[in-house]
Amino acid sequence: MNLRDYVRDIPDYPKEGIVFFDIAPILSTPEAFRYAIDSLAEKFKDSGATKIVAAEARGFIFGAPLAYKMGIGFVPVRKPGKLPYKNRCVTYDLEYGTDTLCIHEDAIEPGEKILVIDDLLATGGTAEGMLKLVKDAGGDIVGCGFVIQLGFLDGDRILEEAGQEHSFLIE
Ligand code: PRP
Ligand code: ADE
Repeated sequence: MNLRDYVRDIPDYPKEGIVFFDIAPILSTPEAFRYAIDSLAEKFKDSGATKIVAAEARGFIFGAPLAYKMGIGFVPVRKPGKLPYKNRCVTYDLEYGTDTLCIHEDAIEPGEKILVIDDLLATGGTAEGMLKLVKDAGGDIVGCGFVIQLGFLDGDRILEEAGQEHSFLIE
């Protein structure tokens, strides 16, 4: 299975000069979607993680079925105003703007082993925001997994500098 065949490149979306990597073909092709989830589960099977942390919206698409497959918990990271209990929030830079993400303040126990999952690593801003949310809660990040890495944006440097294990299905 070459998962890259199921990612569609859309030029000049959402702004001129940006190539958007559309995962819809992965999601609409059962074998590709299963392959993506099973491959991530295989990579992290010995991680010891007890929860996956993933950001809305596309992070949920891969994070939730992966948590189900691994038999571990799922913690949603959401945009402001969406989580009903007490929140902790962080603001970060994106390839095409800035954003803020929040987590329930009781979602992670101190010392708990956490896997951070997203569909795509671009600048690494979202990943850095999630790392900060998890670390501030006292979580121990045992891995970061992404379906796609945009290598030309160097987002993995943020993960390397933070000393975080990370892997990609498409580089
Ligand atoms: C996209 C993508 C990642 C992030 C990667 O999410 O799903 O979370 O951007 O970019 P970065 O490495 O530069 O931070 P987006 O904020 O577009 O939201 P969405 O998932 O709701 O589409
Ligand atoms: N998130 C950030 N940059 C992106 C891109 N170029 N394609 C798809 N999702 C993204």
